[in-house]
Amino acid sequence: MLVNLRDICAIAEQNNMAIASFNAPSMEALRATIDAAEQTGYPVILSHAEAHESVMPLDAMGPAMVALAERSSAMVCVHLDHCEHLSYMRRALEMGFTGAMYDGSMEPYEVNLENSARAAAMCHSFDCGLESELGSMGSREGGESAEGGTAEEAGAVYTDSDQARAFVKATDLDILACSFGTVHGLYKGEPHLQFDVLTKIRSRVKVPLVMHGGSGVSDEDYARAIDAGIRKINYYTYGAKYAGDAAVSVVDGVRASASGKPVYWHDLTVAAYERLVEDFSSVIKVFANGAAPLA
Ligand code: 13P
Repeated sequence: MLVNLRDICAIAEQNNMAIASFNAPSMEALRATIDAAEQTGYPVILSHAEAHESVMPLDAMGPAMVALAERSSAMVCVHLDHCEHLSYMRRALEMGFTGAMYDGSMEPYEVNLENSARAAAMCHSFDCGLESELGSMGSREGGESAEGGTAEEAGAVYTDSDQARAFVKATDLDILACSFGTVHGLYKGEPHLQFDVLTKIRSRVKVPLVMHGGSGVSDEDYARAIDAGIRKINYYTYGAKYAGDAAVSVVDGVRASASGKPVYWHDLTVAAYERLVEDFSSVIKVFANGAAPLA
């Protein structure tokens, strides 16, 4: 069933857990997200990032996301990730998305605040929840440029707790993405999460908090972040890599057999789908942080 972003994060708050938000720029990732939620019994957030428009257009994927979420037995929020253009956001809202993120993190504070407030008003008129980001992760979602080293090397600006309090109040957003040491893309070394930054934000801000750059982090750090108030974790890069590896090993297997058999495209998509279900299911359970399944 389709669930609003605000409501799904309230469920996370009540259970001291985080909801996994998986990007779905392919039918395999879309199906794997919903199937993993149904198999594990936890809610999930199914996301489309504006940066993935060239990989999978919103017009093609959005209606499929909403339709499969509506008929699922799992609680699914269909969410627009890292949207920089309000006209693009409106298109997703008109398709029936129940969550959206406005990303003004590369804009000056005043522009981020003004556009976040406009996005909140627009989202709420569609009964959709709004996420905005304050501070900056440095690297962007999608593509080579996202692959930084540490957050500092990627040019991150950690979220300031006092500014966050004022930002939440002035914009009427529903959940806040903050920067505290994670980066998008593959980690080159160990991620160094700044839990003191997160704890300060939590003490000043009452809305649920979001961790981007959430794949590639240790289970211990996930648990610490959730206990410190993270309620939504965005996860993409490592799952996409595992699925890519699964498809490559199918090709390698066929070629190594020297049977002369062709490699069929559907063999690769099935292998990728199966690997994604396995990975997403285990991630959903880790983010549940000990909470019992809800369905
Ligand atoms: P990763 O690149 O760490 O998977 O993060 C994804 C993300 O934050 C999407 O918004």
